Amino acid sequence: MRLALTINGQAVQLEAPPLRRLTDVLRNHLGLTATKVGCEAGDCGACSVLLDGEVVNACTVAIGRLDGHDVVTLEGLDRSGRIERLQRSFLHHGAAQCGICTPGMLVSAAALLAFDPSPDERAVADALGGVLCRCTGYRKIITAVLAAPAFDEEPVEAPEGKAVGARVPRVDGPAKVRGTEKFGDDITPEDVLVARAIRSPHPRSRFEIGDIDGYLTSNPGIVAVFTAGDIPGRNRFGVIARVADQPVLAESETRFRGEAVALVVGETGAMEVFDPNRFPVRWDVLDHLADPGQAMDEGAHLLHPDRRQNILIRGLVQQGDAEAALARSAVVVEGEFSTGFVEHAYIEPEAGHARRVGDRIEIHATTQTPHLDLIEVAEILALDPSQVRIVPTAVGGGFGGKLDLSVQPLLALAAWRLGRPVRMTYTRPESMMSTTKRHPSRIAVRLGASLDGKLVGIDVDAVFDTGAYASWGPTVANRVPVHAGGPYRYEAYRARTAAVHTNNPPSGAFRGFGVPQAAIAQECMFDEMADMLGIDRLEFRRRNALVAGAPTVTGQVFTAGVGYVDCLDALRPVWDRARQEALLANSVAGPRRRGVGLAGVWYGCGNTALPNPSTIKIGVSRSGRVVLHQGAIDIGQGANTVISQICADALGVSLQSVDLIGPDTDFTPDAGKTSASRQTFISGNAAFAAGRLLRQRLLALAGASADATLELGPSRLLVHDRGVLAAVDLAGLAVDENGLVAVAEATYDPPTVALDEYGQGEPYAVFGYGAQLTELEVDVDLGAVRLLRITAAHDVGRAVNPMLVEGQIEGGIAQGIGLALMEDYRPGHTENLHDYLIPTIGDVPEVVSILIESNDPLGPYGAKGIGEHSLVPTAPSILNAIRDATGVSIRTVPATPDRIRAAILAANRGGSHR
Ligand code: FES
Ligand code: FES
Repeated sequence: MRLALTINGQAVQLEAPPLRRLTDVLRNHLGLTATKVGCEAGDCGACSVLLDGEVVNACTVAIGRLDGHDVVTLEGLDRSGRIERLQRSFLHHGAAQCGICTPGMLVSAAALLAFDPSPDERAVADALGGVLCRCTGYRKIITAVLAAPAFDEEPVEAPEGKAVGARVPRVDGPAKVRGTEKFGDDITPEDVLVARAIRSPHPRSRFEIGDIDGYLTSNPGIVAVFTAGDIPGRNRFGVIARVADQPVLAESETRFRGEAVALVVGETGAMEVFDPNRFPVRWDVLDHLADPGQAMDEGAHLLHPDRRQNILIRGLVQQGDAEAALARSAVVVEGEFSTGFVEHAYIEPEAGHARRVGDRIEIHATTQTPHLDLIEVAEILALDPSQVRIVPTAVGGGFGGKLDLSVQPLLALAAWRLGRPVRMTYTRPESMMSTTKRHPSRIAVRLGASLDGKLVGIDVDAVFDTGAYASWGPTVANRVPVHAGGPYRYEAYRARTAAVHTNNPPSGAFRGFGVPQAAIAQECMFDEMADMLGIDRLEFRRRNALVAGAPTVTGQVFTAGVGYVDCLDALRPVWDRARQEALLANSVAGPRRRGVGLAGVWYGCGNTALPNPSTIKIGVSRSGRVVLHQGAIDIGQGANTVISQICADALGVSLQSVDLIGPDTDFTPDAGKTSASRQTFISGNAAFAAGRLLRQRLLALAGASADATLELGPSRLLVHDRGVLAAVDLAGLAVDENGLVAVAEATYDPPTVALDEYGQGEPYAVFGYGAQLTELEVDVDLGAVRLLRITAAHDVGRAVNPMLVEGQIEGGIAQGIGLALMEDYRPGHTENLHDYLIPTIGDVPEVVSILIESNDPLGPYGAKGIGEHSLVPTAPSILNAIRDATGVSIRTVPATPDRIRAAILAANRGGSHR
């Protein structure tokens, strides 16, 4: 079909099939990649554009209906200057994190402001309600849109030498608000082929691949099919090498629904009409194991023959005799809690491309861990690691889900074998069915206390469904026993875990590594205990809180940097006010009952008792710029900005003089994985050390003292030392292979002590602490929950960038709301963003962040992590508030209206239904 339309103010003639999606035309034919694709089903709003001035999802618009119409994308709005205030307001308020939703948000906000130049919060929420954001928790987006019409502030610049602590905008922000940042699917190399995987539709099956030659002959444009036999190296991958067990392509039996068995590669045109159902494969369906209880039965089939009872690993932390402590406790409460699969639901599906360059393979893809990807791809392709280069694209959300390989080995295999670039983007259902999830859990807790409210003992027994492959199962099984008792002191402690294989999707890393599930059980039991004892719930926690100088459950003693009591104390006035208000509200009869809930968190930053180094390199160029080789992947959390701030202060130069390089495994040293809330603390310490070292080298160039101040200008370094000014001509100095005249590299590995057989040792060098308080209303007739406000007090050591810290808190809380109230991934049933619900802009209430700065002795400038800490207490604080409002304990999440209503009815009948 021929058609003529206007795109971003320019007349465009097109010839295309009438049913082609507008997203496809914009992105793949016109190169307008600011319009993003998160679902291709009208569910996420990432593809929002203006059609004749109205916001539409471009993925649901067929090009055939656009003859004579007018389309405007973010690129058009950006060029026109119409949204400049809005873009600056987004930057100023920290409204973009990963940035994948940002174009959709900006387009929707622009349409609103064109129609209503001074909207209220309700209008903003309505206008942006169709655009999902998984990172920000929406609050800063709302603030940015409300402020945009009158926004006239200059960009915040950090005072020289005081970048740490400043609310500076993200250094990578402008590209996000202009839509120019390149995510995995935004790059189309010349002559590229397209790959798609054939995946098992059954949880467990044997399979036989049919006539491939016949398939290729009858499908012109399909150039190759790869199966397990085509993998030249080790057909196994996994983040933990000693248990790596997942095939890139299954060999004869699939172990979960969504497992790949073959890779089909073809020309773009052929792959546009590719139908996986026509691929020749015969499935022989086998019985499958759906839950860990069934899987541990003697006689159950073993997913991996060397793992008895399908148990991947067990974990234990034990201090004293928990059984005896419970026996002597005056009061004991107990309960069993269960949680289901939770999907990461990052808005950017897995995507990227690979190309062969001589005897090397280059992979450009979305990832949280480029150096580990490099090692794994080298093993899979039987290459030397020096033959692999990983160039991460911008990451449109990760949350742990992009720590495991996805498209990387498939792309590498195809590009290596075919000698042409190959691209691949998972569809939303493919992303959801084939990648890792939060571990479902069943956690039993027994908690004992004395009559005066002192904790005596706790026993936690947790079973996690680790799915078909190991992934991060061992990490969850080892981290949870340390954290299962929360930030409290016990006379005796025991926490046992088991990670058990089933024929479910692999469970992996998801913001908290099992700790959010354990915190639900422990913190909900705390409220029941406090009530049994007749002690105020906040006071009960405070009375038992971990403090500096007291040993943790692993016998570790921190002499400073333990800010949990400060977090509780910061919430005291809020608690008292909220309880009073709830009392008043509930004095009026009616179905709406007000409740207030509280929960605490502690969370170790970095790997559990394992080496965990980061390396950062910093140099100065001849032109007088600081060049920061920053390999800590920024998945939206702000590592690019925070590491730059630390680097600038350590070096003693302005933040504006720092340029970022990387990440790219050819050029940036290994800064480890972006996981376990480690980058600010560990890579931050490496940046600090590298900055100080480089400073010494620059001072030496001028023969200056340690107290001298540095000033970088065009091609020169000015050194002010005790009233004497020395100038160094940088242009005249020799450069290294990276064009740097001076360079320093430093590695930081946090000090830990391995855990013994009872889990005793020093698993983390630093813990972060926090407490959250939820105010909500429950309609007891409907079981519906309305969140009113969440107040979060977190000990972050030092807020390197308070705006980004708040963003992490708000985003973590939004995901905690999802865990508590709505998210429930069911293989084969909720494999899209229509059936799988995540919080929308209307689901996140006001969030008040209180930042506690305990100035950790090991943190760079005192800082520690916050990425995962912010999510952990949200769900238990919500469940405790529901109990406060209704009197019923919900022990299975998500606490959906039907579950809440059933629990209320059961309680009214005198039974128990949880
Ligand atoms: S990509 Fe269009 S709504 Fe998700
Ligand atoms: S910033 Fe919204 S999805 Fe990442």
